[in-house]
Amino acid sequence: MQVIDGIRISSEIKQELAIQVIERKTQGKKIPHLAAILVGNDGASMSYVNAKVKACEEIGFESTLIRYDSSVSEEILLAKVLALNLDKSIDGFIVQLPLPPQIDEMKITQAIDPLKDVDGFHPQNLGNMVVSLPGFLPATPMGILELIKRMKIETEGKNCVIIGRSNIVGMPLSIMLGRNSYPGNCTVTLAHSRTKNLSEVCLKADIIIAAIGQPNFIKADMVKKGAVVIDVGTTRVEDSSRERGWRLVGDVDYENVAPLCSYISPVPGGVGPMTIASLMMNTLKALELKGK
Ligand code: GUN
Repeated sequence: MQVIDGIRISSEIKQELAIQVIERKTQGKKIPHLAAILVGNDGASMSYVNAKVKACEEIGFESTLIRYDSSVSEEILLAKVLALNLDKSIDGFIVQLPLPPQIDEMKITQAIDPLKDVDGFHPQNLGNMVVSLPGFLPATPMGILELIKRMKIETEGKNCVIIGRSNIVGMPLSIMLGRNSYPGNCTVTLAHSRTKNLSEVCLKADIIIAAIGQPNFIKADMVKKGAVVIDVGTTRVEDSSRERGWRLVGDVDYENVAPLCSYISPVPGGVGPMTIASLMMNTLKALELKGK
């Protein structure tokens, strides 16, 4: 069994990007600039956004964090998105999800200039992905593909079961892994809350990707010997033994599933850091696409 080390692989990517920043500086070119909008005080969202800002600092990107109270109106948020679209100093930006109930997430996502949509959530970027046109790939699925690529995991002709059909992970990933490319050429099953006999479906999988947000949902009796298991779950579970009072738990019962696997990604330290690495890659790409 090999552990898929997302911390090591994301560090490699960040080092590669840092070198490109130095090269751009010596050539007198613009440095990539990422902006992030964070609404409210949700602990998980704050730590994700902080990690994104920290990654920018490590690589040498510029970053701007824009914060709003959770009571912010849709109108104010939309106005900020439109201002960032026009701001020539900002190469790409994200609006951290989820947003409070008074704000229509899809309306905000659709207002982002697709050329600055480094999260790859805009329907234009998702559509481009479906027909394999250039565009920004969504950060978490892109990070998972990068893990598969850098671990040289074979995907062609494999049965891949993805559990969870969210717009930001399961749905786009099901399309990306079915495309005629590497990583890809899988026979993909997209399982969800209405799937019948999920254990049987999973037992047929060469590759299982769990993205449902239910701690320890994937048990050893659902996994075929030699399967590749990728865990996208990150649920905060109360843990009084930790100073901060919680720990991150994945969707996979790691302790019992790992011995069965050819490859497995842990939580934390698997997919999470790769989402950030992909966002950084997309931000550099956004600047390069401007020809600057
Ligand atoms: N919420 C959970 N994951 C993400 C992500 O990758 N990007 C944004 N913007 N919000 C998220």
